[in-house]
Amino acid sequence: MKNNLSEEIQKAAEILSQAKSAVIFSGAGMSAESGIATFRDPGGLWDRFDPAEVGTAPGIMSLLSEGGDTIREIIREVVEAFTLARPNAGHLALAELERMGVARSVITQNIDNLHREAGSTRVFEVHGNLYRFRCLNCESKFFVDRSDFLERLGDIARGSGPLSLEGIMERVPRCSCGGVSRPDVVMFGESVQELGEAIFEAHQSDVMLILGTSGVVYPAAMVPQEARKAGAVLIEINPTEVVFASKNDVYIREKAAVALPLIVEEVKKRKKKK
Ligand code: APR
Repeated sequence: MKNNLSEEIQKAAEILSQAKSAVIFSGAGMSAESGIATFRDPGGLWDRFDPAEVGTAPGIMSLLSEGGDTIREIIREVVEAFTLARPNAGHLALAELERMGVARSVITQNIDNLHREAGSTRVFEVHGNLYRFRCLNCESKFFVDRSDFLERLGDIARGSGPLSLEGIMERVPRCSCGGVSRPDVVMFGESVQELGEAIFEAHQSDVMLILGTSGVVYPAAMVPQEARKAGAVLIEINPTEVVFASKNDVYIREKAAVALPLIVEEVKKRKKKK
């Protein structure tokens, strides 16, 4: 490992081993090593599809009125990536930090449920969760079985002929009240979820680990800024860009799934010496 990288890893570990209330803020780069494409990297989702079309309800309706081929293509990609996706070494390292009493919570922009599956228990999903549904009739929310839901999506992806909203809705799980439901994910133009809780967490943090985010989507991108206002030290891990960390913080130019396990090992060594 390049020397300055190991220095940064050591610095991050030193800061975390002294932290009283570390909070994690993650983006799509966190799940890259789990096989889920990011949005804005070359070849990412928004590099190949127009977010205004596939990331908004009106856009989806308009694509369905044209037969829905693009929707089928996106669903196919989601089914393929999400079926195989498992928590990577970075997710598991974060869950370890929680068990060690170092990490207080995870605030994530990701909808893939991987932080929960890795064992993190205080997870605030500001853009929702693909496996949680919201009833359009009674507004109640419920989780569905991941493989069953992905199987249903697979049926849609494998279908042929024009794709209609009815064709999608008949495969989407129903609420116990009989109402039609939709995935509880936040589309562009919709209100984010748990933002108040996320900002509260940021205000409680003395360290914020910022992992794999381009920081271009608001209001989620306010969270690291709120942590800095609260006096937190920022530790940012991103292999291609530094978005939030400044000279008094730590920036690690590495993949999250590579750097995080190294940091956690160093934190453990420091904790043992105490
Ligand atoms: N480890 C860490 N960071 C990585 C890795 C990796 N292995 N691979 C890529 N990255 C970094 C990229 O350099 C980039 O800065 O992850 C970031 C991914 O940025 P985006 O694709 O913009 O994802 P994100 O910041 O999570 O987007 C925020 O935009 O479209 C909406 O709702 C969507 O939640 C998403 C939001």
